[in-house]
Amino acid sequence: MTSADATGDLTIAGRLLRPDDGFDRWLLEHAPLWSRSARFMRRMMAVPGWSVGPLSIENGTLHIGGWAVSPRFALRPPSLLVNGRRVRRVSWPEPRTDIDNFFWYVPQRLRGGLTARVPLEDVDRDGDGIEVGAVWRTAGGRHRLSSFFMCRPEADVYPLPDAQRRMRVHGGTEESAFRLVGYTSMRQVDGALRTVMNRPLNSFASILDWGCGCGRLTRYLGGTTSAITGVDIDSDSVAWCATNLPFGHFLHIEPDPPMPMPAGGFELVIGISIFTHLSEEDQWAWLRELHRVLAPGGIAAVTVSGNAAVARSGIPVPFVGHWLHVGFLDVGHSTDLDGAVDQPDRYRNVVHTASYVDTKWPSAGFTIAGRIPAAIGGHQDLVLLQRT
Ligand SMILES: C[S@@+](CC[C@H](N)C(=O)[O-])C[C@H]1O[C@@H](n2cnc3c(N)ncnc32)[C@H](O)[C@@H]1O
Repeated sequence: MTSADATGDLTIAGRLLRPDDGFDRWLLEHAPLWSRSARFMRRMMAVPGWSVGPLSIENGTLHIGGWAVSPRFALRPPSLLVNGRRVRRVSWPEPRTDIDNFFWYVPQRLRGGLTARVPLEDVDRDGDGIEVGAVWRTAGGRHRLSSFFMCRPEADVYPLPDAQRRMRVHGGTEESAFRLVGYTSMRQVDGALRTVMNRPLNSFASILDWGCGCGRLTRYLGGTTSAITGVDIDSDSVAWCATNLPFGHFLHIEPDPPMPMPAGGFELVIGISIFTHLSEEDQWAWLRELHRVLAPGGIAAVTVSGNAAVARSGIPVPFVGHWLHVGFLDVGHSTDLDGAVDQPDRYRNVVHTASYVDTKWPSAGFTIAGRIPAAIGGHQDLVLLQRT
């Protein structure tokens, strides 16, 4: 009988193991992998996951940090691609104990770190951005990992919100991570629209950034010719955007629809990490509201937390099993907006299965035009909905 308690202590057949001798340490690291729960979690995760960051430029060299873990064993590091060019040397596996708690069921989790350095003169130009992608061959096959995009510093022109405001939308204060996720979100939405709808982001005349927060993504819409509107229930964030992002029109809204805007006014609605925070009841009300404000044939590009997010969430296994069964799980209150909005309890952490979205959301008047797993930050799924 094997069990692990909250302190990480592990009991095997009644014997408490402590990581103070070599064999016990080895058992502590590997025994959880053999349990039924671990096999279940590896099946749910299905494909490798990764994250990039920190990503920085120093003296003309791009420094890449991150981690990569796979539910199946990997002999070689992921192949990194920077603007499509293969990086010659990637250091992996490197010690990376901070991901151990979430990926307790994955082999090689204690050495999931990766680093690489790339002289920028070797990197082809791609507008204002630098794309870091990866392909990884593991025992489970060959996998393309979702790309991260960094905006070149000279093109990242708008002021950065202060740490407290960044914390509310990002859950952390690190500046480069805030920029990386914001720019990645914009580029992933653009890429999905090009692939699925055959048109780029800036071909949409009117864009609503629903739940814009303090403009983590919105700041990268300044270069488009589209009319940009941002709305949020966080009045302080909205005021910050109105002052600092002069290309947009920003509006505070209530947590219940309708928004104070006419029907059919937008060709595109972007909602990054909003449905990831709404109760099931609020989700339906807002799906109907997005349908109302979209023009016929318009697109909503929204995210949900699906398998990749659950794989790194630390949600207890029985709840993961329940989630897979029912399709939607409210994991609890997110404290990120406490003190900033009137009804902070309504800000939840929720997770959706792909089949829940595919089978239930069309009843709100949409077709599911596309889905890009783990598109945002390597964990949130991007879903393109077309208004019918
Ligand atoms: C995780 S943040 C993401 C912000 C932004 N979309 C981004 O990617 O940086 C979620 C945002 O949704 C806002 N929000 C929550 N419920 C909302 C609702 N019903 N309508 C509009 N915004 C909402 C929050 O205030 C917060 O700014």
